[in-house]
Amino acid sequence: MKQKIETIFPEITEIPERYRIPIPINQTGYLINGELHQWKGEFENVYSPVYISEKGSLYNFIGTYPLMDKETSLHTLNAATEAYNNGRGEWPMMTIEQRIGCFRKFILLMKEQRDIVIKLLMWEIGKNLKDAENEFDRTTDYINNTIEALKDIDRDSSRFIIKQGIIAQIRRAPLGVTLCMGPFNYPLNETFTTLIPALIMGNTVIFKPPKLGVLLHSPLLKAFRDAFPKGVVNTVYGEGQKVIAPIMKSGKVNVLAFIGSCKVADILKKQHPHPHKLKSVLGLEAKNPAIILEDADLNITTHECITGALSYNGQRCTALKIIFVHKNITDAFIRKLSSEVEKLNIGMPWDEDVFITPLPEPDKADYLSDLVNDAVNKGARICNQSGGIKNKSFFYPLVLSGINHNMRIYHEEQFGPIIPIVSYNDIQVPLDYVINSNYGQQASIFGEDSETISILVDTLVNQVCRVNINSQCQRGPDIFPFTGRKDSAEGTLSVSDALKVFSIRTLVALKENDRNKKILTEILNNQQSKFLSTDFIL
Ligand code: G3H
Repeated sequence: MKQKIETIFPEITEIPERYRIPIPINQTGYLINGELHQWKGEFENVYSPVYISEKGSLYNFIGTYPLMDKETSLHTLNAATEAYNNGRGEWPMMTIEQRIGCFRKFILLMKEQRDIVIKLLMWEIGKNLKDAENEFDRTTDYINNTIEALKDIDRDSSRFIIKQGIIAQIRRAPLGVTLCMGPFNYPLNETFTTLIPALIMGNTVIFKPPKLGVLLHSPLLKAFRDAFPKGVVNTVYGEGQKVIAPIMKSGKVNVLAFIGSCKVADILKKQHPHPHKLKSVLGLEAKNPAIILEDADLNITTHECITGALSYNGQRCTALKIIFVHKNITDAFIRKLSSEVEKLNIGMPWDEDVFITPLPEPDKADYLSDLVNDAVNKGARICNQSGGIKNKSFFYPLVLSGINHNMRIYHEEQFGPIIPIVSYNDIQVPLDYVINSNYGQQASIFGEDSETISILVDTLVNQVCRVNINSQCQRGPDIFPFTGRKDSAEGTLSVSDALKVFSIRTLVALKENDRNKKILTEILNNQQSKFLSTDFIL
């Protein structure tokens, strides 16, 4: 294995032609106020997790993107603010049907870019082909499902309510200028799971792609430009301190949609001068535990723990990041898990059936090694033969047993391919872990006895927001609510919940008398208002 890892990076000729990209890809375009401008200032280099081997040396530079300055970022903000125009802009004033029309156009244009976006997902963040395809298709499905969910909401609000002598129509109205920032692990999907509902509810958007996974958004800029009115979607690139701080400090942002670390979320929120004017929708950190009971089926448990902990190399906020296993089955579980981990396919993102690929974050392999060394120095054991063998951005997945609360890996979110295992005798050990943790996203229970499982379920549902039985933790299906307690999230994102978090219930009410009824009838018959309307979208 050591030798395989030493030579894991391919020569250019070994990469199938259909997955190659022209290197370098220099992105100069950025979208502000409906125009694709050409950036003439400084640029940031993009390095791939995939190194290319050439004449005995390795390189991974694949392109550049604009490093904007404060002035340009404020142009972005002005464009979004003007397009919203205090709720009187073309976009917030459009009917839902008109907005859906823009989205239908956008989906068609977006699908034309499927191949290049998938290739860039592989090159920029090392996601394997199957997962990259899934990320793209899941995103277009998400847009279609959002359209259907919005129609449902709109149909429910197309009627009037009469209570206590008051007639009212209740609808959902937009909130204003929205800043969307997604994470590197799902740079397309998770950015769009906030951007799409924010837009469709009538908000205008500034979006900043994550630090890793920038170039893959550039083929979509024309689609945004051509599908939406000017100023509705604007892009910003560069260092947060330079380009995002001025936007937040302006006080003009109404919604912050951010998926990433608590630290950055806290900084951004504090920069806003009017905390009550800002609504935050946050997907943050997690350290989801698996709790394996004494009677768990080892085949199912091992399979779910491997996909749960190691899909996309463990770089999912929903990944299983610590495993508590009953002491009576600890040895058997570790043996099975370690032997299955040694069978995983490693390689480049386009390799057939590849599971483990290089990591995109700079110095990530060294950080993971530090976590392992800390644990080993305090008594942990590396259980699988190849665990932790590394080469540049590649790190072989590692099963680490004998974990306790003195070790960093017990507390830190590794966001990488390490499976830490705690052996317990008393079920209170994993429960205390969950209770004392700063995080509260999900947990998985593995076992067979319904009574034991029920007791655990009833305790865990008041600590985390999704309890999975004999299944790994995950976000999907996207119509399920996705959220967390404590430091794990703020707001709920499912297809329909997201439409609610990016809007506010607003009503028009009038006393039920002849004069008001006459006015209302005239408004409806002459279709004078977009809000007051009984139109039904089919
Ligand atoms: O990074 C966190 C993602 O929301 C996880 O989504 O469970 O579908 O991989 P997933």
